[in-house]
Amino acid sequence: MSTDLLAGKRHAGRNTIYVVAEEDGLALAKRFDGPDVDRDRRFSNTVDWEKVQAIRGDDFSPRLLRTDPVERRVWFPYLDSAETLQSQIEGRTSWSAVSDVLRDCGRRLGDVHSLTGQSLILDLFTARPALSEPPDPLAMFHAISGQQYAEASGGELECWALFHHDHELRSALQAWMEDQGQDPAIAPIHGDLRPDQFLIDGSRVHIIDWEEWTLGPTTRDLAGMVGALVFDALHGAFVRAAAATGGVGEVHANVLARAGEALAEVSVATGAFLEGYAAASPHPVDPVRLGRAIGWALLERVLARAVFSHRLTTIDKAVAGIGRQALIDPDSATALVHQEAEDVPA
Ligand SMILES: Nc1ncnc2c1ncn2[C@@H]1O[C@H](COP(=O)(O)OP(=O)(O)O)[C@@H](O)[C@H]1O
Ligand SMILES: [Mg+2]
Repeated sequence: MSTDLLAGKRHAGRNTIYVVAEEDGLALAKRFDGPDVDRDRRFSNTVDWEKVQAIRGDDFSPRLLRTDPVERRVWFPYLDSAETLQSQIEGRTSWSAVSDVLRDCGRRLGDVHSLTGQSLILDLFTARPALSEPPDPLAMFHAISGQQYAEASGGELECWALFHHDHELRSALQAWMEDQGQDPAIAPIHGDLRPDQFLIDGSRVHIIDWEEWTLGPTTRDLAGMVGALVFDALHGAFVRAAAATGGVGEVHANVLARAGEALAEVSVATGAFLEGYAAASPHPVDPVRLGRAIGWALLERVLARAVFSHRLTTIDKAVAGIGRQALIDPDSATALVHQEAEDVPA
């Protein structure tokens, strides 16, 4: 199960989304773009997810209206009064103001992860074609090819220079990936969870965009969510600190203090999400596994940003350093999960 752990990354512009007027209301149409094999895979996953969510007769996401397998398109009812969790977070007055909705979102994810032991899920999962060339996610930590070098952005080359001699990080990543094969908490997971995949419609929480769902370690979904919250909190704190001190050099000097403050602040949000999750999921949260997975989520975000930039900022390096430390050191990993809560206005 560990081969696809780091695969299936999202790329901006993979899908085309548009809203269309239909006889009985608005529909959201989604066309899967990209290389054939990959868009077929994402199209089939989306269609299969309908069968999984039908198991308990509980809709986790709006039901598919229809599909077009030739053009790889799908249509959903468009929820025009809904808002993503991401936009609620961005518009918050404080973390406490969004902790109820975060708790509900955690509970909803716990419901998904309790869809276990169903032979249908296993059948759908095992019927998937194997990837012909499984990606080697650790490749860039050893070396990059001439072609990769030629195509890399300045930011990516800097990342590579940072990680390439880092044997400690490489073995921590290797151990972490192997450990996921031992993780007992396996369930149907979303596989690409972030706050913009939750759609809030009044009191109803939908989880959308199931193109990467799989049978895998539940920690991965938790780390997707908590990692996104932690990344934004660290980034926001460092950017504010840089603006206040007049330069990233000074931020670097007290980066650990800033990181501690940011983590304490966001723990109101991550704590609420995890509390809701624990109330609904049959799988206990393992703080070391979760912390390490958050560590990877932070590194992954820095790598993803580097693709589009000429250089790695001091802030990105600081975030990467925190991610790296969480992967290497269990105490540092649990510190990303448990912090003293401290609510301050946004
Ligand atoms: N059924 C829907 N009703 C209203 N808005 C939706 C619906 N589905 C998706 N959206 C909006 O479109 C965005 C992208 O949809 P999503 O399925 O997540 O596609 P992508 O693969 O591009 O992330 C979502 O973040 C949400 O804002
Ligand atoms: Mg999405």
